[in-house]
Amino acid sequence: MSLPTSLYGLSRRSLLGSALALGACQPAAQSQTPTVSLPPLRSIAPFPVGTAVQAVHLTDPNLARLIAAQASQLTPEWEMKMEYIVRDDGTFRFEAPDAIAAFARTHGLGLFGHTLVWYAQTSPAFERLDEGRVSFAGAYRNYIHAVVGRYRGQAVGWDVVNEAVAEDGEGWRDSLWSQRLGAFDHMVLAFQNAREADPAAKLFLNDYNLEWIPKKRATFLRLVERLLAAGAPIDGVGTQTHVAADQAPGEIARTIAELGQFGLQVHVSEFDVSLSRAKGLRLNRLELERQQAGVYAEAAEAFMALPSRQRFAFSFWGLRDSESWLKREDAGDTPLPFDDQGRPKAAAVAWAAQVG
Ligand code: XIL
Repeated sequence: MSLPTSLYGLSRRSLLGSALALGACQPAAQSQTPTVSLPPLRSIAPFPVGTAVQAVHLTDPNLARLIAAQASQLTPEWEMKMEYIVRDDGTFRFEAPDAIAAFARTHGLGLFGHTLVWYAQTSPAFERLDEGRVSFAGAYRNYIHAVVGRYRGQAVGWDVVNEAVAEDGEGWRDSLWSQRLGAFDHMVLAFQNAREADPAAKLFLNDYNLEWIPKKRATFLRLVERLLAAGAPIDGVGTQTHVAADQAPGEIARTIAELGQFGLQVHVSEFDVSLSRAKGLRLNRLELERQQAGVYAEAAEAFMALPSRQRFAFSFWGLRDSESWLKREDAGDTPLPFDDQGRPKAAAVAWAAQVG
């Protein structure tokens, strides 16, 4: 099967001379401190356990071992996003996502694609497209076909549209995609294109702060209904669940239960629990860590309360604290289930106790 190698979906031969498309498109414990022992999360949980990874993580032997031991599914943290795949000239590159896909194959792990359409990610090549030779809708389709088609047969699912709902829950976000293809239609198109490109992959609408902003959650749920009513091939809903240790008790459970109401697959897709963002709590670190473990337990319990056929996966946004994206916001934050040395924290133990 020949797949498009650039936004423009042209064959390699026809690209020659085109200025727009020039190319083809168990961890070693460092410390003596005795730690809790916990069986691998993937062996305890009766559902797939995911983690975000970057290709560079897989070159760290300790981390690669931890990932292969603990997780059953990988989500590329950023290298399947447009910012990586689409070069400014409109050609595509796949080295990093291919490396992650190869690691997944070698270790028998699932691969979850993240993410095709995201308001936060556009590309100069798309922005430049006008009424010329290649239509915007054609380039959009080519992109989705190229990316989804490349991992067809391997990817278990895709975040097709990420973060579609406005932060305050008033409608949907404005983006290059909504402006060119329609506020609602660009989402339907993305799902249709993804389904064509890989009929077996589960297709998700994914969003965040659903447990934090009830209005956003309500708008998200209405959007799912509307997509279903329009016949969009949506198989599942993802709740990122980037939360803080002062997360109001009960809201994560309510969110997961409400997302389950459609009978679709549910993915807790990017779980982490920040200590630094827990501004509402004036607690010492030990108390914060206890709260964090409580949030881990609530999320695990709520996920287990779903019918087993709806539990798509529970994915952490990284395994070791040292790799967390939240370190960029505050280097002292420790939101993940394993410490810098890859040892399970109280949060991991609390999570495991609910799923085992
Ligand atoms: C973040 C990654 O962790 C960073 O490495 C990247 O630079 C920016 O994106 N919601 C999402 C994820 O859907 O893609 C984001 O990941 C975190 C918030």
